[in-house]
Amino acid sequence: MDVEKAIDIRKSIRKYQDKQVSQEIIIKLLDAARKAPSAHNTQSHKYFIVKDEETMKKLKKANAFKQPFVYDAPLIIICCANPSLYPKPIEVDDKSENYAHEDLSIASSFLVLQATELGLGTVFVAWMHREKIKKILKLPKNYIIPFAILIGYPAEEPAQKPRKDLNEIIF
Ligand SMILES: Cc1cc2nc3c(=O)[nH]c(=O)nc-3n(C[C@H](O)[C@H](O)[C@H](O)COP(=O)(O)O)c2cc1C
Repeated sequence: MDVEKAIDIRKSIRKYQDKQVSQEIIIKLLDAARKAPSAHNTQSHKYFIVKDEETMKKLKKANAFKQPFVYDAPLIIICCANPSLYPKPIEVDDKSENYAHEDLSIASSFLVLQATELGLGTVFVAWMHREKIKKILKLPKNYIIPFAILIGYPAEEPAQKPRKDLNEIIF
C-alpha cells in the first residue's frame, strides 16, 4: 500500500477483533514514529504501551478513559512528550512555547499511517483523565499526554466521515 492509499482509507476504528498485535508490529509502528521530523530535531516524544490485562483493568477501575470501548482495545499507545527538552525559542515570531504538541502529533500520524498500511484500525483518544493515567503508569510528571492511540484489527466498518472541500480549507 502506498501513502496515498493509506491516507485515503484510514478512518477511526473503535471495535476490534479479539486478536493481539504482535511485538514485531508494535516495534514497526514505533519505528515509524521515531523517524518523524521534530522542531530542532528535539524528538521529545515517548510512548507507553498498554496491552496487558492487569494494566487495562487498573485503568478501567480508575475510569481513566471516559469511553468504555477503550478498555476492549488490544493495544493502547499512550503518546507522551517532554516539553522541557526544547531550546529557548528564537524570537522571530510570537511563538513562545515549545513544540511538544506539534512534534507528537506529526510522529503519531506517521504511526497511524503505518498501522493502516498493516491492516490495523486506529483511533486517537483525548477524552481521558491525564493525572490518573500518569499515576497508574508511573509516568514522569514533566511529560504531557495529549492523547492516546487505540490499535487493533478492525471489527467494524464505519462509513468515512465527511471532509471539507479543498476550496474551504484554502485562504
Ligand atoms: C486529537 C484527537 C483526539 C480525539 N479524541 C477522541 C476521543 O477521545 N474519543 C473518540 O471516540 N474519538 C476521538 N477522536 C477521533 C475523531 O473523532 C475522528 O478522528 C474524527 O471524527 C474524524 O473521523 P475519522 O478519524 O474516522 O476520519 C480524536 C481525534 C483526534 C485527532
